[in-house]
Amino acid sequence: MPVEKIAVIGAGVSGLGAIKVCLEEGLEPTCFEGSHDIGGLWRYEENNESGRLYSVYKSATCNTSKEMTAYSDYPFPDHYPNYLHNSKIMKYLQMYVKHFDLLKYIHFQTKVCSVKKRSDFSSTGQWDVVVDANGKQESYVFDAIMVCSGYYNDPYFPIENFPGITRFKGPYFHSWEYKSPEKFLGKRILVVGIGNTGADVASELSHVAKKVYLSTRRGAWIWNRVWDNGNPMDTVLFTRFNSFINRLLTTSMINKWAENKLNAKFNHEIYGLKSEHRFLSHQATLSDELPHQIISGRLQVKSNVKEFTENAVIFEDGSQVHVDIVIFATGYTFNFHFLEDNSVLDSQCSMYKFVFSPQLEKPTLAFIGIVQPMGAILPVSELQSRWATRVFKGLNKLPSASDMMIEIKQIQDKMENQFLKNRRDARRVPFVDYMDEIASEIKVKPNLLSLFLRDPKLAFEVFFGPCTPYQYRLQGPGKWNGARRAILSQRERIIKPLRTRVLKNGHPLSYRSFWCIDLQDGKSQDIYTFRSRKD
Ligand SMILES: Cc1cc2nc3c(=O)[nH]c(=O)nc-3n(C[C@H](O)[C@H](O)[C@H](O)COP(=O)(O)OP(=O)(O)OC[C@H]3O[C@@H](n4cnc5c(N)ncnc54)[C@H](O)[C@@H]3O)c2cc1C
Ligand SMILES: *[C@@H]1O[C@H](CO)[C@@H](O)[C@H](O)[C@H]1NC(C)=O
Ligand SMILES: *[C@@H]1O[C@H](CO)[C@@H](O)[C@H](O)[C@H]1NC(C)=O
Repeated sequence: MPVEKIAVIGAGVSGLGAIKVCLEEGLEPTCFEGSHDIGGLWRYEENNESGRLYSVYKSATCNTSKEMTAYSDYPFPDHYPNYLHNSKIMKYLQMYVKHFDLLKYIHFQTKVCSVKKRSDFSSTGQWDVVVDANGKQESYVFDAIMVCSGYYNDPYFPIENFPGITRFKGPYFHSWEYKSPEKFLGKRILVVGIGNTGADVASELSHVAKKVYLSTRRGAWIWNRVWDNGNPMDTVLFTRFNSFINRLLTTSMINKWAENKLNAKFNHEIYGLKSEHRFLSHQATLSDELPHQIISGRLQVKSNVKEFTENAVIFEDGSQVHVDIVIFATGYTFNFHFLEDNSVLDSQCSMYKFVFSPQLEKPTLAFIGIVQPMGAILPVSELQSRWATRVFKGLNKLPSASDMMIEIKQIQDKMENQFLKNRRDARRVPFVDYMDEIASEIKVKPNLLSLFLRDPKLAFEVFFGPCTPYQYRLQGPGKWNGARRAILSQRERIIKPLRTRVLKNGHPLSYRSFWCIDLQDGKSQDIYTFRSRKD
């Protein structure tokens, strides 16, 4: 019996990509979205409505650049800024939905309540799905399920770690309730946690608050969006060339390089941010603003919280400050309440390549976008969908359950050695390597050797340039004819929105003026003379 009907749970960036990919593969998607619109957490809303817990705060801006964050066959408009405000991401998603005509596959205000194997699962691989459509229960049968419900659905707030917090008289809440800074004018605020959200919220508040304290247990390495020569960080670091070099280096060499680089920007020890862990052991925090607010005295970094009193906080170093409001930026956990069957996932949520549960007799359940790439999630979840749909159709086979478990175990051991024991770090993967791994499964990883022979100009950009998602549309199933052009024009799209004041004697709108500021003194000459000859 051929697989046809696919349920997609959630219409965030992962769900929308999944619908599109189903159509591309000739499958019939039905998407259930608990809230009234697309976009998932990128859809900013003042109030939380039922069916959806989390939206970004008002000012939230992407921390991955547009060329690295695009769907692989749908680049962002060239005039869009490199780091996009959440409203621009929504605009893009709306354009994507319109362009590929996805809206008619989405059932809004329809929450998936339960997903259960059918009694004949071991032969059919089918699922019973029960949804709550605006208060009305409906049942469906599906050949396969794509879980795209996101991993920011359960705020993590370990209240027992904060003695005295219930005694504290002022308001305190988890960062997911934070929307905008107006209410905090003139207040003394403590932000607990120095992840991306903690750093963002603390920096934003420090413009209006009387004082902001940022408490951190173990510090953090801070990197920035604006990288060398003003390039978007990810376009410089996440290249095939770097990934190749990294394979030749030891972990400690990479750590040393990264830490020196980040300390050259500001000394993490003096700024009170020095972390006990090495750069690669834990997710770094992306913030261009944090060091600036610290050096301007608007924000103070403090150690771990020891306890709260009625109107103050005492830190582990013994210091004490008065605060009016406490915000806990302590992160999220995720859950799949709708999966009733315990045999689907073990307690550690072990998944083969972070997508398939090895426990199932039939591979008809895929988790999309649960992995934590060091880089953009959108193209990763899209590629996972491309793999998953081909597995559903039987075009790709998974290894045996025991082989999958062996690989999962190996990866878990490796992660435990390399990373801190931490909920998030257990799902962290390097962007280029993980993309290539999934791409290899479905034969869409660019073949560099043949590319060098056929199209050296393109091969050059694929190898040395940012590893943009279009690379995975150059060959194999799902090949897109626009991929080559998208790759060769990506640097122009990066420069375009920056060139708002064009100098009379400036360089033409080309990557060279930007990428190779030091062309004149010859440093990068060898690499680029190659390309200028081809031009
Ligand atoms: C502040 C912040 C900044 C970020 N910045 C970036 C960035 O710059 N780049 C990047 O790549 N990633 C970033 N991320 C990560 C982010 O998770 C992804 O960009 C992206 O939102 C993941 O999309 P998703 O579709 O997987 O999940 P979500 O956006 O969470 O969407 C899940 C959808 O599923 C729906 N849903 C859930 N359960 C059910 C159910 N039972 N029934 C029906 N519908 C359901 C929800 O209503 C929601 O619409 C950021 C995250 C945060 C919090
Ligand atoms: C959002 O929902 C949570 C619980 O689901 C509630 O505690 C909170 O007050 C709500 N916030 C707003 C602004 O409605
Ligand atoms: C961007 O922010 C999100 C949410 O905090 C985080 O999960 C992700 O790792 C960040 N990405 C980068 C490249 O720092």
